Amino acid sequence: MTRRPELHAGVTDVDLSETTALVTGSTSGIGREAALAFGRLGAQVLVHGRDRERGEATLDDLAETAAAGADLFLADFANQASVRTMAADVAASVDSVDVLVNNAGGMFRNAGTTAAGIEYTIAVNHLAPFLLTHHLLPEMPDGGRIVTTSSGAHRSGSIDVDQLEATEGSSFARYSRSKLANVLFTRELARRTDRVTANCFHPGFVPGSAFFRQVPAPIRLPMKAARVLPGVGTSVQEGAGTAVYLAASPEVADVTGEYFADCTPRQPSREARDDATARRLWERSEELVDLDQSLRLSASADGS
Ligand SMILES: NC(=O)c1ccc[n+]([C@@H]2O[C@H](COP(=O)([O-])OP(=O)(O)OC[C@H]3O[C@@H](n4cnc5c(N)ncnc54)[C@H](OP(=O)(O)O)[C@@H]3O)[C@@H](O)[C@H]2O)c1
Repeated sequence: MTRRPELHAGVTDVDLSETTALVTGSTSGIGREAALAFGRLGAQVLVHGRDRERGEATLDDLAETAAAGADLFLADFANQASVRTMAADVAASVDSVDVLVNNAGGMFRNAGTTAAGIEYTIAVNHLAPFLLTHHLLPEMPDGGRIVTTSSGAHRSGSIDVDQLEATEGSSFARYSRSKLANVLFTRELARRTDRVTANCFHPGFVPGSAFFRQVPAPIRLPMKAARVLPGVGTSVQEGAGTAVYLAASPEVADVTGEYFADCTPRQPSREARDDATARRLWERSEELVDLDQSLRLSASADGS
């Protein structure tokens, strides 16, 4: 029996009626289930995706439960200008963003590079949330929470910070690298700010989302089979559970810089714990998104 994310997270009694939560990639899969859970807990929900029809379908579902209302923002994360426009639209339409769930992403076959000349997977999965987070941090109150959907696949990833444009390697290698970047981003963000918390998580193997659309055949076929086999993998609702836990549970109000799976802190890979790599990735990411000086965070939380 599938449990709703808020039940899995143990937060059914948490009241989010004073909370605005933005979930990227909430037109489908894990993000959509997290958004619906936030709506049921009383939050104002900001839905994001690329596809208006899928976005409006999510809004329709939220209309039944989200008393505080919901809104849709469309942006292609392969396009940095689109991310900036979305951030400005969000900032203009709400008083604050209390919870930001950086969830949009995937594994992309033969995607090449973006218009900015950056490998597509790292651009969508890492640089877009890096850019969005910087633009929305000024909208976040003290005590806000940033949650990023990483993956256990980060353990297979390796990163050469000077080669983020490179498209070599399999789509799985490029995906693992981007999910490693998600963990490094989270740790470095936590080091650079103590105003909000930043945590990331692995949702489990979730065959029921639309993730399998783009993955290569050796992974796609077992994922498709697992969709119809009872008890194989994690349900989409339970996959969203750790996102909802990190965004809503009082247990983690002061926890930051950690990697979770199944609502439990876990040790990420050795490379994901390398502070020098995290710092170099951060600085290179600032360059690749041409981050406005006024939005840059100091190298440590005390501004030094
Ligand atoms: N499924 C798993 O087993 C698994 C395991 C570990 C980690 N994850 C992570 O979980 C997150 C959510 O994936 P999911 O499994 O829920 O897959 P999903 O059902 O395919 O959802 C992905 C979401 O990301 C959005 N997205 C993808 N590319 C985008 C782009 N270029 N610009 C803007 N939005 C984009 C999609 O929007 P559209 O509707 O427009 O495509 C969709 O809303 C991902 O970060 C993934 O890496 C998944």
